[in-house]
Amino acid sequence: MIYQPKSIFIFLLCCTFLITGCQQSTGDFKVQEVPVEYLKAGQGFLEVSTVAQGLDVPWGMDYVDNKVLFTEIKGKVKELNLSTGELRTLLDLTDVYTRTTPGLLDIAIQKNTKDDPFVFINYTKKQDSILVSTLIRYQYTGSELINRKEILTVAGASGHNGSRLLIDEKNILYWATGDVADNKMAQDSTTLNGKVLRMNLDGSVPTDNPIPNSLVYAWGFRNIQGMTFDKDANLFTAEHGDAIEDEVNWVRPLHNYGWPLIEGMHDTDEELAIVSKTKMTEPIKSWTPVIAPAGMAYYNHDQIAAWKNALLLVTLKSQTFRVLNLNSDQHTIKEEHIYFGKHFGRMRAVLVLPNGDILLSTSNRDWNPQPGFPKENDDRILRIRASKEQPKEFLQEDVAIATSEKQNGLVLFKNYCASCHREDGKGVEKTFPPLLNSTKIKDLPAFTKLLLEGTTDKQTIKGVRYEQNMASFKFLKDVELAEIINYVSKSFGDKKTTTPKAVKALRN
Ligand code: HEC
Repeated sequence: MIYQPKSIFIFLLCCTFLITGCQQSTGDFKVQEVPVEYLKAGQGFLEVSTVAQGLDVPWGMDYVDNKVLFTEIKGKVKELNLSTGELRTLLDLTDVYTRTTPGLLDIAIQKNTKDDPFVFINYTKKQDSILVSTLIRYQYTGSELINRKEILTVAGASGHNGSRLLIDEKNILYWATGDVADNKMAQDSTTLNGKVLRMNLDGSVPTDNPIPNSLVYAWGFRNIQGMTFDKDANLFTAEHGDAIEDEVNWVRPLHNYGWPLIEGMHDTDEELAIVSKTKMTEPIKSWTPVIAPAGMAYYNHDQIAAWKNALLLVTLKSQTFRVLNLNSDQHTIKEEHIYFGKHFGRMRAVLVLPNGDILLSTSNRDWNPQPGFPKENDDRILRIRASKEQPKEFLQEDVAIATSEKQNGLVLFKNYCASCHREDGKGVEKTFPPLLNSTKIKDLPAFTKLLLEGTTDKQTIKGVRYEQNMASFKFLKDVELAEIINYVSKSFGDKKTTTPKAVKALRN
């Protein structure tokens, strides 16, 4: 290995930490192989290094005893030793069903125990040819995962399997399940999908659950991808909206978060009419256009003062890391800061270590890599921590795109359509149909109707059956829809054009 001057400096810096009694020895062997980058956040500089690479969609991470255990979507559970940088495979499951989003998803490790801690994972698998989501428990000996026990199995699907796992200080396990793309699930408080479930570590119902003999804690969720507690044990989730309104929710027992009757804030006439009859809870934050939130963690360490008392959120579609500073009421968001736009690609999981370092995982080898990714060393686990250096070159906070500014067809297409149909209009095989040479886009009234109404039946297009529906885009203004239609027609079709007036006429 060739030692760069910078690496030696970091090595010395690390030794200094060790000598001065830093509890977490976070060895830098891996870091020396990959150049460190810097980020300016608030007044200070942070250092971003790679602690593991060559991974395959590290989906969930948790910490125990100076090690990070993490899942990879196709079925591996790996152990990263933070002292030595050593990476080991603990499990290689063979019954994981993985295609696009399903697979081995989250992991959670029991805290505060003198015994070998329990480790929970959940994954999609086929059971008698039907997809299910299963929650499994192991015990971690410090080097092995043993005593496998099946805890709970709920409905699974080819999409919307959630999910996140979280264990609180009292050893209660929370499992956020997806609605399995079935609109009947989330509002039915007797099913276990589209819910936050609450259980003892053996899967039994805690005696203080809000519904006696039921694991259901809160409902009305679509597809939760992030979940964390703050310092006061407030529970927060991040979830994917449909075409609009990705959300962060403050989850409380027996609250109904609205899906599929309501999306995001209660702000349309239809939604206001619904909540005047049935009590539903608004998110504390929503994003339109969507950003595709993924993992979320709570930061409350002095190491990075600007991020104290903040929710840290990584995202897939917008390829960013976001810091949502909380107000002292602990349930409203004061500020949002956005970092790393497209720099590391899609991001899946985030974990705060006891010493205040932050780990992020990339997701560039998943089913939907964005232009320029995956890079050779993807996927990676990155570490962010305070830097003592005054670097000459550094990344900076991203300036949010003002949504009020006039948006042309290309920008609108990128914001609302390209995540599925791709910027080149070629779609994603068997998942999202191509727009290039689609007959549908040559029939402008039919195309307009499709965008206004979405699809309700799964369509077979050119011999391929698509398993998901497309959401309605009627929330876009006539002028915006006309811009998109004309852009799609010009780029992928026969270049016919429409007008906002023609869109308006079809709207009613
Ligand atoms: C979340 C993913 C997603 C987004 C975002 C999305 N679509 Fe789709 N789109 C689909 C799916 C899935 C289908 C197939 C629907 C079905 O089978 O019911 C589809 C179908 C279509 C079709 C029909 C194709 C054909 O040949 O019949 C067109 C046209 C289309 N979408 C245009 C758009 C436009 C324009 C946008 C942006 C405003 C957009 N879509 C946004 C997922 C998406």
